[in-house]
Amino acid sequence: MALDLDTRNALIETVRRFVREKCVPIESKVSEDDRVPDSIIAEMRELGLFGLSIPQDYGGLGLTMEEEVLVCFELGQTSPAFRSVIGTNVGIGSQGVVMFGTEAQKAEWLPKLASGEIVASFALTEPGAGSDAASVRTAAIRDGDHYVVNGTKRFITNANRAGMFTLLARSDPSRKGAGGISAFIVPAKTPGITIGKPEKKMGQQGAHICDVIFENARVSENLRLGAEGEGFKVAMQVLDRGRLHISAVCVGVAERLIRECVTYAREREQFGSRIGDFQLIQAMLADSKTDAYAARCMVMDAAKTRDTGASVTMEAACTKYFASEMVGRVADRAVQIFGGAGYVADYGIERFYRDVRIFRIYEGTSQIQQLVIARNLLRAED
Ligand code: CAA
Repeated sequence: MALDLDTRNALIETVRRFVREKCVPIESKVSEDDRVPDSIIAEMRELGLFGLSIPQDYGGLGLTMEEEVLVCFELGQTSPAFRSVIGTNVGIGSQGVVMFGTEAQKAEWLPKLASGEIVASFALTEPGAGSDAASVRTAAIRDGDHYVVNGTKRFITNANRAGMFTLLARSDPSRKGAGGISAFIVPAKTPGITIGKPEKKMGQQGAHICDVIFENARVSENLRLGAEGEGFKVAMQVLDRGRLHISAVCVGVAERLIRECVTYAREREQFGSRIGDFQLIQAMLADSKTDAYAARCMVMDAAKTRDTGASVTMEAACTKYFASEMVGRVADRAVQIFGGAGYVADYGIERFYRDVRIFRIYEGTSQIQQLVIARNLLRAED
């Protein structure tokens, strides 16, 4: 059930203050250290941020999608590394359990995820299965009342902190493509799981991605999410939702960058005037504001549609495509408006420029979103 307006506004204000007072001042240190401090993570737990999307019956805040994106607009106003700490518990790591878990699975896992006691991670991507998600080769072969898992997952966000994985693996090797895939909850302490070293990345330092290697890891059939062979649909529905969450973060980052640009344009003087007086700078500000506003409207509309229970596969793809490309344009203009200052580290603009690049790639590249949009259009009944 939706929060009443006062409670909703209070939550948004609390997150806004947390971001501005606690996260923004340490953004560059988090990037340099490649680490979000434990004290910030503890505060995120206290604020309930790990459980934004988890139903209240299991200890979460149980936000609607509309409420969640409003919170993400605020969380996006700082380095995306902070959002990444809670991102997998709120989104792709937990939602398979929320949407497809049995009562016993929900009761066991969701309270721990909601409180932040453990971190969830989503293990779909493999060295040979990125955009072509249906080609996963990690095998989960039945052995009595267990499955034996072997294979390697790649670029798995928060794997090094994970207490559980939502794993997608091929339970029927005789079936190629989506049909042979099942989804599982896999406790991270299961014998036979090794976590690789965090990758060195272009941006979002402080957020970590690692390989996860499964060698004869035994997973109880009680931990399968949904029916055998239905795992691909679990993954796709989790991603439909995740794409809205990421889009809202893109809007938040864009709004932060626009604020920085406006402040700079008011202060910086060239040719005897503030650069904000020049129409070519004004045009860039106007383009960025228009872009961000359009994305905000799309995110809100798609989130409200999802809250009605309707499928938002196409809307989520449109929104992720537009919002992730939009924040790339806004970050590029921000570097341009800041000029040389935008290119050096001190101002933090170049850091955002690098940070936002991944939004066009993870949770489905822009090209995959285009494909999803076009397929849905062509399939639709008149
Ligand atoms: N909801 C429900 N069911 C869906 C669905 C959806 N959104 N999308 C597809 N399906 C179903 C289809 O209806 C079909 O079912 P039937 O066989 O019963 O008809 C089945 O799933 C297979 O669908 P497709 O034929 O469309 O599958 P495909 O192989 O052609 O590929 C794709 C579809 C859209 C390209 C998909 O592979 C995809 O989204 N790829 C991108 C993967 C992705 O986003 N990866 C990100 C990983 S997570 C991450 O990045 C975060 C991190 O931690 C770094």
